[in-house]
Amino acid sequence: MTSQIIPVDPFDLIIFGGTGDLSERKLLPALYHRQRDHQFSEPTRIIGTSRSKLTDKEFQEFARKALTEHVAKEYLDKAEVDKFIKRLSYVAADATSGAGFDDLKKAIGKSDAIRAFYLAVTPALFGSIASQLKKHDVITENSRIVVEKPIGRDLASAKQLNDQIGSVFGEHQIFRIDHYLGKETVQNLMAVRFANALFEPVWNSAHIDHVQITVAETVGLEDRVTYYDTAGALRDMVQNHILQLVCLVAMEPPSSAVEANAVRDEKLKVLRSLKRINGQEAPKKTVRGQYRAGASAGGPVKGYLEELGKPDSTTETFVALKAEIDNWRWAGVPFYIRTGKRLTTRVSEIVINFKPVPYNIFGESAGNMIPNQLVIRLQPDESVKIFIMIKDPGPGGMRLRQLPLDMIFSDTFGGRSPDAYERLLMDVIRGNQTLFMRRDEVEAAWMWVGPILDAWAETRQEAQGYTAGTWGPSGSIALIERDGRTWHESA
Ligand code: BG6
Repeated sequence: MTSQIIPVDPFDLIIFGGTGDLSERKLLPALYHRQRDHQFSEPTRIIGTSRSKLTDKEFQEFARKALTEHVAKEYLDKAEVDKFIKRLSYVAADATSGAGFDDLKKAIGKSDAIRAFYLAVTPALFGSIASQLKKHDVITENSRIVVEKPIGRDLASAKQLNDQIGSVFGEHQIFRIDHYLGKETVQNLMAVRFANALFEPVWNSAHIDHVQITVAETVGLEDRVTYYDTAGALRDMVQNHILQLVCLVAMEPPSSAVEANAVRDEKLKVLRSLKRINGQEAPKKTVRGQYRAGASAGGPVKGYLEELGKPDSTTETFVALKAEIDNWRWAGVPFYIRTGKRLTTRVSEIVINFKPVPYNIFGESAGNMIPNQLVIRLQPDESVKIFIMIKDPGPGGMRLRQLPLDMIFSDTFGGRSPDAYERLLMDVIRGNQTLFMRRDEVEAAWMWVGPILDAWAETRQEAQGYTAGTWGPSGSIALIERDGRTWHESA
């Protein structure tokens, strides 16, 4: 995709968990692309760190392999890769004992460049890394810290983590990543809503019947057995990514889209307006599922329990729920949400379902009047489509049909669609927090999710089995059909 590239100031990026999965699959490839697109200024350095004792050369080899595996061949250019590799160095450090932090300090030196500490490690280490950085005096005014989810597993643990990081870094220095906010189409949601006069007048309960958000994955547990089984779909996907999408759909127009707090203030209001789902309502408004053996990508796959090797886990790999927002704009407009692993297809989309026309003037012979829909597809093939009714061409009487006015990004823009991490990493360096979650947002999201988790525990709400490769348990279909609606065909 084409866009004007504005270089960022020189920076030192220190990646904790530098040899981990996120660094390999996402961070190093994203940084490479940014360099390749001439977004770096010199001198820019990347320092990998983890507990493993590695030499600079070994880390550089790790990075070279990461680029070979995770950057498409057409973008791998030897001279560019060599230039990137030269930026990399490595320091072994252990946050628990503090060993290696002096070496890290030495490696960073006296540079007054922007300094970003990226914590691609388990949240259990956030607090100790932050305090070791402070103790070893490596935090400058120009420093920032980036943390990955999960920020806690409930409100209390989220507060504790936020306190630990907050005792060392100011809120303006803390970048809580939610990579969904870096996705092109998610930002496009802001553009669609606030750069067009067309939508705002109808963006409310007078004209919108309901909203659907689907984030479907075909993958199973992958190699995240321990983490996933303690989290489940509600914590893993809804508390963060999906609630952020709800916020962007539902928020009031912020006074400025370039002022981080203006946007975050509006998102926070949405989170605080979410109607609590209590113990009695949970079975009616939420569905938990867990995949059983089935088929995915044309081949047989194991069920969750077999993959996990633990026959009694009750963790949900699927969740569907009906969320409601108690405010003027959205009263009476349900937001149906569903997400799960091992579903039919990988697709993430937001569907805004408008109300039907008040009266059909065409008569029955014209066919069904299907209400308008705005479908924003985040992945895999990014697009924005508005489904409208038009006349079927020809003289054979007035027949109506539904067709999309569409914009398919790959057709319109061509080229490569940058990964969310590319944008977010550059925003960290630019110091732009708009697409990062503020402390109060994370905590407000937990305040809504917590009672659902409590209700599930109290009522022992079971995870209904679903066959891998389907759209989830039948309860998910019943959840929306009870209200006389159906899930949008996403496949
Ligand atoms: C992560 C979740 O945050 O997002 C994973 O922990 C999930 O379970 C992933 O697979 C999905 O991200 P994406 O960008 O592939 O939709």
